[in-house]
Amino acid sequence: MKSYRIGLIPGDGIGPEIIEEGRRVIEAVSEIEGFKVKWDIYPFGADHYLEIKELLPEDSLKEMKKLDAIYLGALGDPRVKPGILEKGILLALRFYFDQFVNLRPIKLLEGVDCPLKDKRPEDINFFVVRENTEDFYVGIGGRAPRGSSREVLEIKRHLYNIRFNLDIEADGDEIAYQIGVLSRKGTERVIRYAFELAKKKGKTRVTSVDKANVLTHAYGFWREIFEKVAKDYTGIETEFSFVDAITMWFLRKPEWYQVVVAPNMFGDIITDLGAMIQGGLGLAPGGNINPGGVSMFEPIHGSAPKYKGLNTADPIATIWAGAMMLDELGEEKAGEKIVSAIEAVLKEGKTRTRDLGGSSKTSEMGDAIIEKLR
Ligand code: IPM
Ligand code: MN
Repeated sequence: MKSYRIGLIPGDGIGPEIIEEGRRVIEAVSEIEGFKVKWDIYPFGADHYLEIKELLPEDSLKEMKKLDAIYLGALGDPRVKPGILEKGILLALRFYFDQFVNLRPIKLLEGVDCPLKDKRPEDINFFVVRENTEDFYVGIGGRAPRGSSREVLEIKRHLYNIRFNLDIEADGDEIAYQIGVLSRKGTERVIRYAFELAKKKGKTRVTSVDKANVLTHAYGFWREIFEKVAKDYTGIETEFSFVDAITMWFLRKPEWYQVVVAPNMFGDIITDLGAMIQGGLGLAPGGNINPGGVSMFEPIHGSAPKYKGLNTADPIATIWAGAMMLDELGEEKAGEKIVSAIEAVLKEGKTRTRDLGGSSKTSEMGDAIIEKLR
């Protein structure tokens, strides 16, 4: 019998509650489909950080290389300064495992109210492929006072090491700056992934998102690489969209979109919008994918600390992320069965968590999905 070793990071806020439902659903489908899952639990998150001042130790990272995948609840806690847990754990994992694709399906399931008037499930069914390691997310920048100053900024990665030696002269007031970086390889591989995904899913159009009219250096480069990669996929139609325009078009004409590929930060922004048109953040899953390595799956929403421990959060995004994980592991049938079970529960409408206008508990939603699976 096939067996998978999954790293489980419940994390902060509602993370532990929703990941528990995801774990139970995966256990249930594994019995039906005939495979085994072994869970390695990792305590990373706010409590662990506040207790022992540790974010993500090198030993654990090394050990996690043996995993088949990582399943993450959510990170973020009001007791910890914004950015510490996000950068120190979430982004650190994405970068360490070189999960260069952030795959986010935008799909309106049957039985879900869409905030867009007259849009049906067949109108909202596309993928956003978000670049996941570069752009402004490389995290380098600083502040410089009036006068002369120097700064050395470094990026250490699998693909490259980069050092910026800055020699700054500022004759006005203090400044702050942030440097975004795109590499040719880093850009090419994610765009190629988007085209391959289109082929695999029978989609016929890939839309590239940028802001090449203003951020000409970085996104002009992105555009140029997109055009070059597109030449290898002659059967697929292509187009460019500026990021501001695409936020409008997602609302006006979502049925136009099939596969959308975007640099990291724009991808971050447009997928929260995507989550809303598919019914809300409670329903939006994502996968941080390294096709040859260890990928990590998570809901795209945050840790919602206000709702911690109340057993009211919607676990669907996390359960769906679990389905994406199984799909990536090669258990496509198990993944499909989970999504069908989620859809069946939503369509029936008996079990609805608060975000969906009901009063069902997190665990009741898990139970209902498991019941449909069986
Ligand atoms: C997301 C989140 C993260 C991101 C944060 C928490 C670092 O917003 O996964 O979309 O910006 O990528
Ligand atoms: Mn986000």
